[in-house]
Amino acid sequence: MIVRALTRRLCKQILKRKSYPTLKFMCFAAFLLIFFVIVLFRTSDMFKPKHRMFLFCSISDNEERYRAFTFEHDVDLSVIVIVYNRAESLQRLLESLNNAQFYGDNIALHVWIDRSQNGTIDSSTYKVARDFTFTHGQYYVHNQTCHVGIYGQWIGAWYPRNSSSEIAVILEDDLTVSPYFYKWLKVVHNKFDNRPDINGYSLQGVSIKHGIDQDGFLDVNKTHKAFLYPILGTWGFSPNNRNWRAFSDWYMMVRGDPSFQPYVEGIHPSVWYQEQLEKGQQDRMWSMWFIYYAWMHKEYTMYSNFKDHQGLTINWKEPGLHYSKSDDVTKPDPLLLDWKSEYEDLPDNPVIVDVNGNEMIPKS
Ligand SMILES: *[C@@H]1O[C@H](CO)[C@@H](O)[C@H](O)[C@H]1NC(C)=O
Ligand SMILES: *[C@@H]1O[C@H](CO)[C@@H](O)[C@H](O)[C@H]1NC(C)=O
Ligand SMILES: *[C@@H]1O[C@H](CO)[C@@H](O)[C@H](O)[C@H]1NC(C)=O
Ligand SMILES: *[C@@H]1O[C@H](CO)[C@@H](O)[C@H](O)[C@H]1NC(C)=O
Repeated sequence: MIVRALTRRLCKQILKRKSYPTLKFMCFAAFLLIFFVIVLFRTSDMFKPKHRMFLFCSISDNEERYRAFTFEHDVDLSVIVIVYNRAESLQRLLESLNNAQFYGDNIALHVWIDRSQNGTIDSSTYKVARDFTFTHGQYYVHNQTCHVGIYGQWIGAWYPRNSSSEIAVILEDDLTVSPYFYKWLKVVHNKFDNRPDINGYSLQGVSIKHGIDQDGFLDVNKTHKAFLYPILGTWGFSPNNRNWRAFSDWYMMVRGDPSFQPYVEGIHPSVWYQEQLEKGQQDRMWSMWFIYYAWMHKEYTMYSNFKDHQGLTINWKEPGLHYSKSDDVTKPDPLLLDWKSEYEDLPDNPVIVDVNGNEMIPKS
């Protein structure tokens, strides 16, 4: 605007003295040039490929707002913490991250705070994030630009460059990490990232059996130091880059089709998803889409199998989207607090465990 007004005034002043048509034309040309430079600058900024962007707010918001997936430089590890309004949980998780081992690697910690439906950022959560000092690397606090919900927080968390070797881990705020979570992630990414059927690594030490006729927990023979399971665990998940890109591309493609729903026969999550759909709450279970995608492509998630179900994370199961006040939270699960070098010695072909908890013969 300012540029336009200036140009016009300048043109007028010159033209007052000399009204030659060539001068008139030159003024016009100069204005056009400036205009195009501005437009070019603006659009090139918007479409820079390093900021691959997806729309996450269009459903509830007519304004076009975008969310960047990728950060400018690769690091060894991106820790992505997602939170909405639980200041104390966030504080506990961030402290456990400071207590973890990072071996001098290049680490970036990001905290993404979601907005409420009415557009507010929870101020005590923001304060905790802002006042925290991360002692192992770069630290960023981001306000989401609109309410993106649990889908936007997860699926929008990260979008690696093709063939990037960055490790990412996505953590909800109600977790505590083991000091050795990154050690384990380095071991498994290094050993298994080339396996196309492994879509990521879950940090939790306990998981239910997901088969529809099953209840209770997975209990895999401890002779297996790790196992593959068809369903991801969301208490700390570190995706395989290739599969995560493919999954998020697929999700952005199919999510606009209201006739498509991600059901998988014979597992509990499909039932929960159906129940939430009926209550209009399907915006709480992003993981159903990941489960469906993994099922269609015969992909597995790797879990550790430490003594006594010690986890690389534990979940405090606080009231929120996933748990209600009535859930039993009196006894937290055990956290892995010692590292032994034998943990690094994993089999080339880890055992596959099905949704009923039965071991299947691994492919050789
Ligand atoms: C916005 O939403 C938050 C969380 O639901 C609530 O605490 C707050 O009072 C709301 N603010 C307004 C102005 O409606
Ligand atoms: C994020 O939200 C908080 C709380 O509303 C606000 O104080 C802060 O300035 C915001 N930061 C940015 C970068 O928008
Ligand atoms: C990503 O890289 C692989 C090989 O490194 C290539 O085959 C593939 O086409 C690339 N994909 C995209 C979307 O660029
Ligand atoms: C675990 O596997 C080992 C080796 O195959 C076997 O000897 C042992 O009996 C198994 N333990 C249980 C509890 O099934």
